[in-house]
Amino acid sequence: MSTVYAIANQKGGVGKTTTAVNLAACIAEAGYEVLLVDMDSQANATVGLGLAKDAVPTVYEVLGGSSSLEEAIRPTAIEHLAIVPASPDLAGANVELPRLEESENLLRDALAPVRDRYAFTILDCPPSLGPLTVNALVAADRVIVPVQAEYFALEGLAGLLDTLSLIQRELNPRLTIAGMVLTMHDGRTRLAQDVEREVREHFPELVFDTVIPRNVRIGEAPSFGQPVIHHDPHCAGADAYFELAKEVAARG
Ligand SMILES: Nc1ncnc2c1ncn2[C@@H]1O[C@H](COP(=O)(O)OP(=O)(O)OP(=O)(O)O)[C@@H](O)[C@H]1O
Ligand SMILES: [Mg+2]
Repeated sequence: MSTVYAIANQKGGVGKTTTAVNLAACIAEAGYEVLLVDMDSQANATVGLGLAKDAVPTVYEVLGGSSSLEEAIRPTAIEHLAIVPASPDLAGANVELPRLEESENLLRDALAPVRDRYAFTILDCPPSLGPLTVNALVAADRVIVPVQAEYFALEGLAGLLDTLSLIQRELNPRLTIAGMVLTMHDGRTRLAQDVEREVREHFPELVFDTVIPRNVRIGEAPSFGQPVIHHDPHCAGADAYFELAKEVAARG
């Protein structure tokens, strides 16, 4: 069995990359083969796993057709976890992809020959609903939507859900929503509690029980090129991502 998860929300800074990297690391820790594909020209997932953002080939060369996905796969310092890195060049894909025929299918087709090798493939999307996110959503079986537990959390979610239905209808009937995960939740504040209640009321079936707390260790781990479960395995942030990984696996 192999499942492809896209981590998507067009809103910036809501915890997509943090969730992609840490979910990938937790699943790898459980002994499954995991492939993380960095779909963002900011290359935060690439750097957050300790790789340089100037190594080629990257996902940019894969989408452009000058490299196979196989050639772009790199090992990481973590057993069972491999990555297809991104680089700032990937920004060009936003202009170049729409000029190519059937450009929505490029990532799906590139992944096809390798996806069975990985029990889980995780796609870290950029903060937009542009061609790179569309490629990820076409290649994915499920979407995980990180939602920052802050004011305006719900803003944009309706638009995202509309986009997901459109992609389901037109491009990828397999696509389902695995769930929404509340991130950077500060349980001491009234605001975080209110936002959590509101998001759960709006999307009763969709929100994961696990809530990711705002946690200093999570925030600093990328500067060590590590997921939080390796940076500080016993902190609250690491515990939360392990719980989330269990919930994701249980939802199948
Ligand atoms: N639970 C958390 N506790 C503390 N800091 C966090 C937490 N989650 C994420 N951060 C920090 O918040 C910032 C934004 O997180 P992240 O990069 O994961 O968001 P993103 O949605 O991928 O952003 P972008 O839209 O730019 O790709 C980062 O500096 C990250 O380290
Ligand atoms: Mg990101």
